[in-house]
Amino acid sequence: MPSRTLHLLPPEAAHRLAIWGLGHGLVGRQPADAWPRLATCLCGLSLPNPLGLAAGFDKNAEALPGLAKLGFGWIEIGTVLPRPQAGNPKPRIFRLRQDRALINRLGFNSQGLERVRARLAGRKPSWGVIGANIGANRDSTDPVQDYVSGLRGVYPLVDYVTINVSSPNTPGLRELQHGGRLEALLAALMETRAGLGPDGPKPILLKIAPDLEQDQERAMAETAMAAGIDGLIVGNTTLARPDLRGRHRDQAGGLSGPPLMAISTAQLARLHRLTQGKLPLVGVGGIASGADAYAKVRAGASALQLYTGFIYQGPGVVRRVLGELDALLARDRHASIAATVGSDA
Ligand SMILES: Cc1cc2nc3c(=O)[nH]c(=O)nc-3n(C[C@H](O)[C@H](O)[C@H](O)COP(=O)(O)O)c2cc1C
Repeated sequence: MPSRTLHLLPPEAAHRLAIWGLGHGLVGRQPADAWPRLATCLCGLSLPNPLGLAAGFDKNAEALPGLAKLGFGWIEIGTVLPRPQAGNPKPRIFRLRQDRALINRLGFNSQGLERVRARLAGRKPSWGVIGANIGANRDSTDPVQDYVSGLRGVYPLVDYVTINVSSPNTPGLRELQHGGRLEALLAALMETRAGLGPDGPKPILLKIAPDLEQDQERAMAETAMAAGIDGLIVGNTTLARPDLRGRHRDQAGGLSGPPLMAISTAQLARLHRLTQGKLPLVGVGGIASGADAYAKVRAGASALQLYTGFIYQGPGVVRRVLGELDALLARDRHASIAATVGSDA
């Protein structure tokens, strides 16, 4: 269904309908490998192109049969929680049409690990690279244990796992990004991983908030590298409210889409410097065009994700962003994504 038609419905109803259609594979196929120059690698995973679907669109792994046809280079499902959770009262997603942005305060609605595992068990090779993003239940008394259970649960079924400590809509969650709490969380996860997987360690990525202070950002990067995290996803939605026009701009929640582009790309560039290009970074936040994607790669992103651009532009956003990105690489005589990463630094 065209995204224009879906936008006649309230956001969450539109989302449910899209998930239903995609789950039944009711979409045309767009190739993921139409641009040989864009084939790349992230943490040892071969991607037909760098553009992934960000977490939060398919929280429960219901839509993979359709999503896998849209030409994304990789797909991240989740956030998945150990136990089912309803999330916040509705309405909890708001369109800021003039800004082509969203504000959401879903608060981790999840069908829980067991149902997601059952769906991932039916995974087909043609779905390509799939990762799972994991989190903690709101009423958890031991959040670290929630992440450990999540890692154990999804690990055999996916290609990589993302640790989400950056959703703004679960009280206290973002505290796990700091100091001893982050160290303890990552140590527990690394120890758990060491006891899993006979076929070599699968990558674990950490997804961070754009709202960290710069000294927190530096400490987080040092802790993540010392722990042996494989990469950072930079980043989640923001609590900031840069110049917005949409009438819902004062709603509580995380902001995504173009108003996040400059904020998240500046953070990406800082982290590329802090990690001296040694830690793979995923650029996400506000990508709506090939120029946006190109800016993130030049700032230090080895791969990319988007969500809100997909809501406003529909499935055509994938071909558009990748076609434009390919043309920009050709114009500037970059032979590959890898050869372009961090070229602004
Ligand atoms: C409605 C909505 C739900 C989201 N849910 C999640 C989530 O469950 N886990 C997560 O890590 N990020 C979640 N995100 C954040 C996105 O993955 C992404 O980091 C953010 O939207 C910035 O990218 P964008 O500007 O391309 O949308 C969500 C975003 C939106 C708009």
